[in-house]
Amino acid sequence: MTREVWVIVTAAGSGSRLGAEVPKALVPLGGHPALTRVLINLSQVEDVTGVIVTHPESQRELFAQAVPAQLPYAIHLVPGGVSRQASVYAALELLSEISPQSLVLVHDAARALTPPSVFERVIEGLVEGAVALVPALPVKDTIKQIRPDAAIEDFPLVLGSPNRDALRAAQTPQGFDFERLWAVHQKARDLSADEAKAAPDDAALMEAFDYPVRIVAGDELALKITTMVDLKLAEILAEEQPINTPQLPFGQRGDLRE
Ligand code: CTP
Ligand code: MG
Repeated sequence: MTREVWVIVTAAGSGSRLGAEVPKALVPLGGHPALTRVLINLSQVEDVTGVIVTHPESQRELFAQAVPAQLPYAIHLVPGGVSRQASVYAALELLSEISPQSLVLVHDAARALTPPSVFERVIEGLVEGAVALVPALPVKDTIKQIRPDAAIEDFPLVLGSPNRDALRAAQTPQGFDFERLWAVHQKARDLSADEAKAAPDDAALMEAFDYPVRIVAGDELALKITTMVDLKLAEILAEEQPINTPQLPFGQRGDLRE
């Protein structure tokens, strides 16, 4: 492997739909914060050079405490922004200074149980030359299309039912080469200031600029914790994935960088 692989872990959201007492990335799953689980799973992924975690601006110390000791890769924490897109932008800005030639994966901390194999599939595809890769699963529900502005109506009108065979539910980690992802983020930066206009994921930005985005197999364990029901399911699944890595309190991690 000649190029470095960096992983951006987006964890700067508030988790408003979950409504937990702690930020969503810190909810305990089987005794360990979601973010800790992500970082430990990443330590089992071959070839990861470094990880950049986006955190809510005022909560750096709390998030630093969720970083386990003795990770086999470099780790940086950066304050996120008002939208996921803005948070990824902040992490990419740091990466532009430290490893602008790298391959980059962007992963939601909210997908805390994503197995190492999904990361490895994405990295392998990038090394083989893919421009943009999205892990995804077939859609289980039949999807009904309505007008976006009709969502607030009592009985919004159904416009159609897209063929399920032609739909995929996107997950993370999504993989790119740094240079292209950074370029599209810079071009679309205006959108990131408003959560309603911001891109739903990084692949969507690449699509908007006509880059070929391809699918790789996702995993049911990469489910996104969005609501309380998701959390309950993740808690049950996490019990089956025990981990016992020591956590050092903030301040004892000499290698934790800005
Ligand atoms: N995220 C981020 N910065 C933001 C918003 C979201 O880094 N300004 C991250 C979240 O921490 C999460 C991922 O992006 O890991 C996916 O976002 P989502 O599931 O929507 O999480 P939240 O925005 O925290 O939840 P909600 O939308 O319910 O408030
Ligand atoms: Mg959100």
